Amino acid sequence: MSTAIAPLPSLVPAPAASTLTPGSLVPGVRDVVVIETLSEYSEALDAVRRSGRTVGVVPTMGALHAGHRSLVERAAEECDVVAVSIFVNPTQFGEAADLANYPRTFESDLEVVSSAGALVVFAPSVTEMYPEWPEAASTTVSVPAVSRRWEGASRPGHFDGVSTVVVKLLSAAGRCRAYFGEKDYQQLAVVRRVVRDLSLPADVVGCDTVRADDGLALSSRNVRLSTEQRRAALVLSRALRAGATAVVGGEDDPAAIEEQMVRLVAEEPAVQLDYAVVVNADDLEPARTCAEVRPLRLLIAAAVGPVRLIDNVDPHSGG
Ligand code: PAJ
Repeated sequence: MSTAIAPLPSLVPAPAASTLTPGSLVPGVRDVVVIETLSEYSEALDAVRRSGRTVGVVPTMGALHAGHRSLVERAAEECDVVAVSIFVNPTQFGEAADLANYPRTFESDLEVVSSAGALVVFAPSVTEMYPEWPEAASTTVSVPAVSRRWEGASRPGHFDGVSTVVVKLLSAAGRCRAYFGEKDYQQLAVVRRVVRDLSLPADVVGCDTVRADDGLALSSRNVRLSTEQRRAALVLSRALRAGATAVVGGEDDPAAIEEQMVRLVAEEPAVQLDYAVVVNADDLEPARTCAEVRPLRLLIAAAVGPVRLIDNVDPHSGG
């Protein structure tokens, strides 16, 4: 069901009415303002700051789950007005099929956003973000230092797509706190780096990974797993836990820990491991030793049927 969007309830002073575009509202859901253009998004958040309020932004690609919700809730605790962007960014997908199959659940996303305490949803079209689409824009942001390995090596161009869209989203948002999940640990490192290198006016906040009770990290892609694949996928978090236990137990050879993770994953034939590695948490370079080196991070990635899954853990905190 589609009704007109209510005027900005708490964005004072409100932007001109013309800056508000109709969107979808779910009955019974507290009103959320849906904005579809970059200029209106900037104007709305400028108005918030002019009124003395702080802004928190949570960039997402929709299909929101409890992991996204935790970011929005944290932002709502720490900021006066929270804006969630929902944009399935085509430039970060390698395979057309992955983009085409990406789940889109806008109506229920609005419910999540609203109940988690956000007031603004920014949901631009592809051509709003990339006017020349499907032609490539001639400017792309690359962060080679942190992007080169792991996900960057397995998904060429992925992080260029991520860093470019994040720069566009944060530039439009202006001064804010920007919330990203540790679930996508390398992405978080890329975002921190690009924000620092380009002096973007955002304070990046990394948030803990939210997991299902059985340990599987929540991901929008999990809905594409069959029951059997989902069960098999649990080996990723199991392997990370085993690796973390070994680190904490004093194993100081990263290769031994990696071998242990590889062996565990090999017990699940439905899971094709891409990498299981011990890295320095800051620059994501392979760790040379685990003893005395902190912070460390264990990263893992695998294909389970048609779905690529990633996960990671801080071996010392377990988070
Ligand atoms: P998306 O996969 O929708 O994730 C949006 C944010 O939610 C990211 O910061 C991600 O790390 C976080 N997130 C996802 N699953 C989580 C979980 N289980 N626990 C905690 N946080 C979780 O990541 C993207 O979108 C895109 O690449 C984006 C940054 C929006 C750029 O297009």
